[in-house]
Parts: sequence; C-alpha cells; structure tokens
Amino acid sequence: MTRPPSTGDLHAVVGAGGAVGRRLVALLAAAGLPVRAVTRDGRDVGTPGAEPVAADATDPEALTGACRGAAVVHHCVMPVLARWTELFPVVTDALVDAASTVGARLVYADDTWMYGRVRGPMTEDTPWRPVSSKGVLRAWIAERLLHAAAAGRLRVSVVRAGELYGPGVRSLVAGNVFAAALRGRTVHWLGDPDLPLTPTFVDDFARALAVVGREDPSDAGVWHVPHPGGTTGRALAAEACRQAGTRLRLWPHGTAQVRAAGLLVPLAREGAEMVYQFEQPFEVDGSRAARAFGLTATPYEDGVRRTLDALRADRPGPARRRPVRSVRQDPGQVPGAVSG
Ligand SMILES: NC(=O)c1ccc[n+]([C@@H]2O[C@H](COP(=O)([O-])OP(=O)(O)OC[C@H]3O[C@@H](n4cnc5c(N)ncnc54)[C@H](OP(=O)(O)O)[C@@H]3O)[C@@H](O)[C@H]2O)c1
Repeated sequence: MTRPPSTGDLHAVVGAGGAVGRRLVALLAAAGLPVRAVTRDGRDVGTPGAEPVAADATDPEALTGACRGAAVVHHCVMPVLARWTELFPVVTDALVDAASTVGARLVYADDTWMYGRVRGPMTEDTPWRPVSSKGVLRAWIAERLLHAAAAGRLRVSVVRAGELYGPGVRSLVAGNVFAAALRGRTVHWLGDPDLPLTPTFVDDFARALAVVGREDPSDAGVWHVPHPGGTTGRALAAEACRQAGTRLRLWPHGTAQVRAAGLLVPLAREGAEMVYQFEQPFEVDGSRAARAFGLTATPYEDGVRRTLDALRADRPGPARRRPVRSVRQDPGQVPGAVSG
C-alpha cells in the first residue's frame, strides 16, 4: 500500500487526558504546533489552544475522523489493566489504520516490559525476552507497529520510558514514594531499593515523544527516553523526604510477599508479575536519543520537587481520589495490601 504524504504540522494526541498525553499536548502547544487533544469525552485537557475532539480508540471510524489532517498521531492510550489483552490490540490496530489512512507518522508511548530480565542498562538493541504476560503483550504491540511500518503502511516511532513519576502519574514508583514522603509515612518499595534505577520524569517522556514525532528520520524508529544518570529507590525516596522535610522510613517488599497478598487481593497478583523489574538493575539507556535529538533529562532533584509541588496542590485527597482501575494506575494499593 502506498502512503499519502503527510502535510502540515498538526499533532493528534490520542489518550490526551492521561498523565503522558496531557503533558504532551502542553509541550506541543508550547512549541507553537497545532494540537488536537483526542479523549473519549472530548474534554478540555488544560492547554489553551489545543483542539478537543471526542473519539473512542476502539471505534476505527471515529478515530480516523479525529486524526484527519494530522502529520503525527501519538498513541498515548492505556486501557484499564483488567482489559489490556482484550483492548490494547484493538486500539493499536485502529491507530495503525487511522494513521495510515490520513498519512501520519504514528508515535507510540511504550514501556520496557518486553525486555524481560536484564543484567545491565537496557538499550534499543536489548533483545526482547518478556517474562510477564503484560510484557508479552507489549512486545506483540511493538512488533505489530514495526511490522506495519516494514510493510510500507506508515512511518512509526516507538518511544520507550522506564517507570514514570511526576504530576498526575500513577505507577509503582509514583504511587509508593511521593505521597508517603510528603506525609511522613513509610515508603513501601516493591523489590530491592538499592539497585540501579532510572525512573522517567513524565515531562521527559512527553518531550521525547514530541521531538521524535517531529524529527525521527527513520521509517521505523525505536528510541529510549534519556535519563539523568542513575539513582536507586532508596536515594529517590530519601530525596523526596529531604524535600518534604520528613524522615525516611522505607519498607522493601519482595515478589513472594506481593504474591502472598495476591492470594487475597487481585491487584496485588497483577503487580507481583512486574516486581522482577525492581529485583534487577532497572536502567533505561537513552543516550542514542540524546545524541540524535539533543534531548536532555530533568535532574531527579527537579523532578521530585515538581512531583511534590503537584501533590501539595492536589490536597486534600480522599474525596478527589480516582477509582482504582489498575496496578499501574494505582499501584499504591499493592503494598498497602501487603502491609495491612
Ligand atoms: N505510567 C507509567 O509508568 C508508564 C511507563 C512507561 C510507559 N507508559 C505508557 O505510556 C502510555 C500512557 O500512559 P499514562 O501513564 O499516561 O496512562 P493514563 O494516565 O492511564 O492515561 C491513559 C489514557 O488512555 C485513555 N484511554 C483508555 N482507553 C481508551 C480508549 N478506548 N479510547 C481513547 N482513549 C482511551 C484514557 O482515557 P480516559 O481519560 O477517558 O480514561 C486515559 O486518558 C501507556 O501506553 C503506558 O503504558 C506508562
């Protein structure tokens, strides 16, 4: 199939209401680019000038309409974890079809779960050997996108981040460290808190997606987000407590403990298969993208400060808490279940 040439600068961000999508819309608009913010309900995502459009990514026709005229389509959709196997392939295929139909590059916000067990930093050349069901699914998705590009249907960029932290993010790291540090409570850490770690600040992910979308010279590129060198879980938690003015109390939990909790709590069972990442070095090497695109990373000190600022601004919490939908979306539930 011949792809029509893309025209203009319009970026369509699908999943624009999520933690990554929202920041991506803001950064693209700040760079002076026309942006379409695609959410299921067409809501305002907080960036003046962004065009809100409603489309469910499981509806191919609506999605293609929402992407029309775009030079770049960003795949920032994450279905609820319980329906990943059912919905992620449907959404991904619909995004490939939509981007291909309108002649846009498709940029996919990926993670590193397809690499599986590693002994050192993960690069774009690390073999894909997933050890979790969710890692197998992520490998399948990336493979499907790259295959569509190889078949000449569209241009694709896969951008991979480590575990995210930052305003609005729900992840194992984000959920377990920052609110606890702010309130002077015990930080529950899944895995070994003293292993090398490169958590990704959400703005760095969004910036990489924006820049790669505009500048990727390849038809099928895989890029890792640059990080500011390594830290550890303990060092990150210590920095959060230092900035919050609280005393660090850290309680590590291994896979066995989380599995045991999983006998009672389904969310803990889902989380247990991902704890392996924190029982080995979890380092994402983004030096290739740093060199290619001149991307730099937010120092942990700054990322922690901005995360704590956002949490302070979001208080008081209980009434505004979003419902628990997945381990990635509200992982703080898992150690809570462990510790009772
Ligand atoms: N969180 C992490 O640590 C992490 C790390 C690496 C990579 N990533 C990847 O980055 C991507 C974005 O993650 P995130 O943290 O921004 O997730 P998020 O905050 O949960 O946002 C996901 C968004 O997807 C939207 N969505 C779900 N189903 C949809 C559908 N059928 N049609 C249209 N939109 C739909 C949701 O829309 P509603 O607002 O309508 O619910 C939500 O806004 C995901 O692929 C994720 O795997 C995340």
